[in-house]
Amino acid sequence: MPQFQRTLVTTALPYANGPVHLGHLAGVYLPADLFVRYKRLQGEDVVHIGGSDEHGVPITITAEKEGITPGDVVDRYHRMNLDAFRRCGISFDYYGRTSSELHHKTAQEFFLEIERKGIFARKTEKLFYDARAGRFLSDRYVTGTCPICGNTEANGDQCEQCGTHLSPLELINPKSKLSDATPELRETLHWYFPLGRFQKQLEAFVDTHADDWRANVLNYTRTWLNQGLNDRAITRDLSWGITVPLQDPEAEGKVLYVWFDAVLGYVSFTKEWAAQTGSPDRWKEYWQDPHSRVVNFIGKDNVVFHTLMLPAILMAWNEGRSDSIYNLADNVPASEFMNFEGRKFSKSRNYAVYLGEFLEKFPAEALRYSIAMNYPENKDSDFSWTDFQNRTNGELADTLGNFIKRSVDFTNSRFEGVVPHNCTRAEWESLGVNWADTIRQLDEAFEGFHFREAVSAAMDIARAANRFLTGAEPWKAIKEDREAAARTMALSLNLCHALSIALYPVLPETANRIHSMLGFQGTIESLFKRGVPLLQSLTEPALLMGHRLSGASEILFTKIDDAMIEPELRHIEQLLADAQAREAGATADKMEFKPLIEFDDFQKVDLRAASVISAEKVKKASKLLKLQLQVGSSTRQVLAGVAEHYSPEEMVGKNVLLVANLAPRTIRGEVSEGMLLAVEGEAGKLYMIEPQGEKINGNSIQ
Ligand code: 2FM
Ligand code: ZN
Repeated sequence: MPQFQRTLVTTALPYANGPVHLGHLAGVYLPADLFVRYKRLQGEDVVHIGGSDEHGVPITITAEKEGITPGDVVDRYHRMNLDAFRRCGISFDYYGRTSSELHHKTAQEFFLEIERKGIFARKTEKLFYDARAGRFLSDRYVTGTCPICGNTEANGDQCEQCGTHLSPLELINPKSKLSDATPELRETLHWYFPLGRFQKQLEAFVDTHADDWRANVLNYTRTWLNQGLNDRAITRDLSWGITVPLQDPEAEGKVLYVWFDAVLGYVSFTKEWAAQTGSPDRWKEYWQDPHSRVVNFIGKDNVVFHTLMLPAILMAWNEGRSDSIYNLADNVPASEFMNFEGRKFSKSRNYAVYLGEFLEKFPAEALRYSIAMNYPENKDSDFSWTDFQNRTNGELADTLGNFIKRSVDFTNSRFEGVVPHNCTRAEWESLGVNWADTIRQLDEAFEGFHFREAVSAAMDIARAANRFLTGAEPWKAIKEDREAAARTMALSLNLCHALSIALYPVLPETANRIHSMLGFQGTIESLFKRGVPLLQSLTEPALLMGHRLSGASEILFTKIDDAMIEPELRHIEQLLADAQAREAGATADKMEFKPLIEFDDFQKVDLRAASVISAEKVKKASKLLKLQLQVGSSTRQVLAGVAEHYSPEEMVGKNVLLVANLAPRTIRGEVSEGMLLAVEGEAGKLYMIEPQGEKINGNSIQ
C-alpha cells in the first residue's frame, strides 16, 4: 500500500522565453509523466501541475530586442510549449501561467503574510542605474568583461564563456544593455528574505530526507547549508512582474523577484486546477493534508530553489499557524543534464533540438522511449541520432511491434480473430517472466524514480515474449498440433495485453492501440479506478478463450531509415562547423590586435616575477583558485580563474608573472591584488606563463 493517500507532482515551470528542447524533456517532463502515468495506472490519486514561468528579465530583453511587449513574448512561447508537450503526450492535469490573476494574488498573499510577521529585512544597496534610460539595471541588463576569463560579453549574473557566476559589480567596463551607457551606482531599497533565519529548520528538513533524496540533490543542498545561508533580495526594480503589494512609497516601481513568485506557481496552479474541477477547495487536500505528498521534478540547475528557497518560504508562511499549513516537498528528483551528440544543449548558441520541431519529423512515442532509456538520473547522458534510430528500429519496431503484429495477425488468420485457448496459471508462469518479480521491480523502479530500470523491466517482457513465440513456432505447429498452436497464440495475446499495461507509462498511445487491436472498447485510461492497481492483474492471464480481437492489425512502429537520419546528422555537422567557425572567428578577431599604445603606456604596467606559496579552491566558485604569492619581500593574495586547468597542488611552487599594480578587486568576497598572466591554448585550455631563471623573484620584466 502506498504510504501517502495522494501525490502532487510538479514540474519546473519553463520560462516562456523560448521553445523547450529535448534536454528539458529528458530531465523533467518525461520522467514526471512516466511517474504520474504509473501512479494513475496503479489507481493512486495523483495530480500533475505545470505551467509557464512568465516573469523574469530574459523575457523583457527578448521583447525589447524584437520590439514587442513582454506579453506578446510569453503568449507566443506559452502556446508553443504547451502544444509541444501535448503532442509529446505529457499529461498535465493543469498547465498554468504565472501571469494569471490568481497567481499574482497568491504570490502577493505570501509576500504580505511574511511581511506581516516581520520576517523580511529591508535593506538599501547600491545597484547599477542607467541614467540615460532612467532605470535600475538588474543583473541581466548589465554586460561587461569577465574578471575571470576576459570575455568581453559577460552577463551581469554569469559569464557564458567560463560559466562563472558573477555579480554585475564584478564586471570590468560594465555597460547597460539598454543604452550602452556606462551605468552609475545608485542606492535603492529592497526586501530581503532571510534564508539564514531558517538555517536550522532547513538542515533538519534536509536531514529527514537523507535516505530518500538523490545524492546529487543532498550534496548540492548541503554545500549551500554548510556555507551558511544569506539574505536574498526578493524584490526588483522592474516594470514586468508581480507588483509588491504595499501602499508604501518605498515599494513603488518594485516587483517580486521572479524566483520568489515562480516557485509559488505550483500552489496557484493547483488552485486553478481545483477551480476547474468544480471543487475550488480541493487544492488544499494536496498541499495541506499531512497524508499527501509533494514531488518536484526539476533539472539540477534548479535544486536550491526547491530544496531551500521554496521550503523556507513555506516555513515562513507556516510559522505560528495552527491551520493552512503547507507540506514541504517529500522528494525533489532533480535530473542531471542530457547532452546532444556529446555536447551541451545551448539555446544561446542554437545548439539544440527543439521538441516541437522534432515532433514534426519523428513520432513522439519513439522519442519518449529513447529518451527514457537515456534518462540522466545520476550523471549526464547523451542523445544521439544513431541511438534513437537503433532503439526505434531494434527495440520498438523489431522486438515490440513485430511481436504484437505477429500475434494478432496469426490469430486473425488462423483462429478467426478469437482467443483460442484458456491459459492456465502454470502456462502463464512458464513464459520466462516472473510476474510477481516484474511487478515488484516496476513498482520499486517507478517509486524510486529509476526510470531507465522501469522501462527496461517492461521491455524485458517484450524480449521474453519474442523468444517464446519464435521458439514455439505456431506457424509450424498449426499443421500437426492445432491445440499447441492455440495455446501459443492465447499466451502470446495475453503477453500483448500485459505489454499494453506495463509499457503504458512510456508508450501511452501505443499501449492504447494494442488495447484496441485486442478488441477492447474504450481506452486504457477508462480502466483506471481508485485503489485498483492495474499492474497487479498481470499475475493472471487476462484474455479468456472466446475473447474476440478487433480484427484489425497495425504496424506500431515504422523503421527509421538512414535517409531520414542523414539530414539530421548533416545538420549537426553544420552546427558544429558553425561553432568552430565562431571560435576561429573569435581567435581571428584577437589577431586584429588592439590599437597601438605608447611605450609610456606599457611602462605603466608593473609586471613582476612571483612564486606561488599556497593555493586553495574558492567556495561557490569552481573556476577560481585563491593564491598567496611571494613577490620579493612582500606577499600578495590573487584570485586566478585557473581552477579547471591546474589543481592547487600543481600551482604551489610555480613561478608566475604578476600584474602587480592592478587596482584590487573583490571577487566572491575575497580581495584579489593583481592578476597572473596565462595564455589560452586549444579548447580554452589555459597555460600559466612561467618565467624561468635564477633569483628572479620580485623582479620586473625588462
Ligand atoms: O529555470 C527555469 O526555466 C525556471 N523558469 C524554472 C522555474 S521552476 C519553478 F520555480 F517555477
Ligand atoms: Zn568568464
